[in-house]
Amino acid sequence: MGRRVTVPALARMKESAQRIVSVTAYDYTFAKLVDRAGVDIILVGDSLGMVVQGHETTLPVTLEEMIYHTTAVVRGSERAMVVCDFPFGVCQSPKEVVMAAAIKVMKESGCDGVKIEGGQAVAETIKFLTAQRIPVVAHVGLTPQSVKYFGGFKMQGRSDSEAEQIMADALAVEAAGAFAVVLEGIPRGLASRISQALKIPSIGIGAGAECDGQVLVLYDLLGFYGDIKPKFVKQYMQGGELIQSALEQYAKEVRLGEFPGLEHSQDT
Ligand code: KIV
Repeated sequence: MGRRVTVPALARMKESAQRIVSVTAYDYTFAKLVDRAGVDIILVGDSLGMVVQGHETTLPVTLEEMIYHTTAVVRGSERAMVVCDFPFGVCQSPKEVVMAAAIKVMKESGCDGVKIEGGQAVAETIKFLTAQRIPVVAHVGLTPQSVKYFGGFKMQGRSDSEAEQIMADALAVEAAGAFAVVLEGIPRGLASRISQALKIPSIGIGAGAECDGQVLVLYDLLGFYGDIKPKFVKQYMQGGELIQSALEQYAKEVRLGEFPGLEHSQDT
């Protein structure tokens, strides 16, 4: 306790125009690597439903699964703030249900806060949680739990009325007490205007460079996940190819009797 990035520290980063770095992680081993890289916020995203579990959307993920993964990430990290994403069904529930889920998640996993998708529609819930000092990250724009309503993973906020609604959503979650807001899949000009209008930090994904911070799905930035390749993703390595060739080499050596060698075996 006391070593992790805090809510006030993130507020100071916005004040001093210091960019916030966030990335997702879902397990102990990657959490350790991400933490050592100096990332400020590790988001245990419900994107795990797609990149870990292989679903087409995030909708099937359960609260128990989020707690399982978040617990491993907390165990693997020391410095980063760890935020647990609330899965579909929790955010859409009455505020008392969301409160019970937040208490359960924070007690069982040891995480530092929760993320809730939605704007004005969940502002009352955010207010209810933050009144009890539960740190909440909000998430507006292309909210993946609304993918069926949007008709796909489509950029939001292109028309004036949509842009106005997303601005209103961001202002509503700030007023409700969220300490940061994820802006996903919206035009960069709109993200820039929202970031300037807010006192709390904006964390962008597919929202241009003028947000106060950036978040990416870990498997996207490492080049592991190829099922969907959004334009906004930068692959910092071709991880999928590297791992594939390492595994093929292993299989070859086992079949040829080259592995294990003497150096990997013990006489006694
Ligand atoms: O689920 C997730 O990983 C997310 C981030 C990409 C913002 O919500």
